[in-house]
Amino acid sequence: MRVVLYILMTALVFLFFKACNSNEKPEVISPADKVTYERDVKPILATSCVPCHFPGGISPYKWDNYEAVKYKISIIIDRVNKDQGTKNFMPKDGTKLSPESIAILRKWVTDGTREK
Ligand code: HEC
Repeated sequence: MRVVLYILMTALVFLFFKACNSNEKPEVISPADKVTYERDVKPILATSCVPCHFPGGISPYKWDNYEAVKYKISIIIDRVNKDQGTKNFMPKDGTKLSPESIAILRKWVTDGTREK
């Protein structure tokens, strides 16, 4: 039983990576899904932009609500696209967002910056 499970898991992992490699632009969500703020965008910002961009943080800009993020999304994308360590790079002093996360932010715009 354990062996069967092991083989199944290995096959799944293999298929997963194969699917990823064949896809030039990494996209975790299927193209049919519209990206929404609540489900997709908020968790990315909450993970990488805390604590600076939330109430009590060092930045005057708060990326903790739909309206603010929607209003600034083009400059947000611009900043996270910069090379890590360069001027204006965000997250400041942090690690560059994954290509998947950046792709989600872009898709949010093309999908019409929906809230839910
Ligand atoms: C370590 C603290 C810190 C983290 C983490 C951080 N920021 Fe910032 N951010 C700042 C500070 C301070 C400023 C104001 C100075 C500046 O513009 O560079 C700023 C400014 C910005 C601006 C410019 C806003 C404007 O209207 O000019 C954007 C956009 C931005 N951050 C996006 C992000 C995003 C997106 C993340 C997460 C991926 C993030 N930041 C993570 C500290 C941080």
